[in-house]
Amino acid sequence: MTGQRVSPSEGTIGRKGIVLAGGTGSRLHPITLSTSKQLLPIYDKPMIYYPISVLMLAGVREVAIITTPEDQAQFRRLLGDGSQWGMAFTYIIQERPEGLSQAYILAEDFLAGSPSTMVLGDNIFFGHGLPELLARADANGLAATVFGYKVADPERYGVVDFDAEGKVRALVEKPSIPPSSYAVTGLYFLDGTAPRRARSLKPSARGELEITDLLETYLREDNLFVEQMGRGFAWLDTGTYASLLDAGNFVRTLSQRQGMQTGCPEEIAFNKGWIDANALRVQAARFGKSDYGRYLLDLVD
Ligand code: DAU
Repeated sequence: MTGQRVSPSEGTIGRKGIVLAGGTGSRLHPITLSTSKQLLPIYDKPMIYYPISVLMLAGVREVAIITTPEDQAQFRRLLGDGSQWGMAFTYIIQERPEGLSQAYILAEDFLAGSPSTMVLGDNIFFGHGLPELLARADANGLAATVFGYKVADPERYGVVDFDAEGKVRALVEKPSIPPSSYAVTGLYFLDGTAPRRARSLKPSARGELEITDLLETYLREDNLFVEQMGRGFAWLDTGTYASLLDAGNFVRTLSQRQGMQTGCPEEIAFNKGWIDANALRVQAARFGKSDYGRYLLDLVD
């Protein structure tokens, strides 16, 4: 144990986290034939560091990491039990990629009635004010909060359908004619009823328990809040060869210009007081002579 003890009460209402990191990665074949998409590098660190960092910024310390059966060992090797970052990780297997909402069924025992923040393992967020945005979603007391983000290609995502007054009317998964330009990002703040709701869903035509269907159950009860994530935020796509490379270049540009890291779990853990200087030194030493290791060492000194 290099970190400090996890206090489950850190989030304002004891939220637990889920990182959904399964799937076949088939759109990135052959890169993802022998490894998980969420372990691919985004510039200087594995993709999954970025969504885990988002959960950390939201104050979530107990996290379930859902993977395919064959990839779990690699995730365990990379992430361990989470104590190096003052966190606690639980690993859950998803046998087949049967939909985002299935994550809530698989994580039902782990959640044990707690509200949750789920983030997709391939979603990367960046922006000034992100911690505040997350804190608002955590604390707003609403049953479900998701984020709408304006994109040029909404047909590739779940899309928000607004009525004339700007009220959310529906969420539509990959519509051929998008009702708006607002995609629903892969970050979901749901209350403790999510597993029960997920169990009541029927698979869609493509055989998946759709996240949009789960969110619709909240919407029908007027319990869904779609917060706009403005243009000051970057929500990066990693779904194609080109966007994967672009995401890496984006992170490289930022970190070289600012001399600061994006999505660095050690730094967030240290700033939050979840690990002390000694624990940070231990992590820095693990990474030897890499720039990443040197960056961590500079944080202590
Ligand atoms: O990225 C945001 C979008 O994510 C949302 O706007 C959509 O509403 C939502 O359905 C989802 O769309 P995608 O087309 O990106 O879903 P995809 O099947 O690519 O899965 C997203 C990630 O979740 C991916 O890293 C693989 C993982 N996954 C997916 C499924 C279906 C799993 O781990 N298990 C699964 O069963």
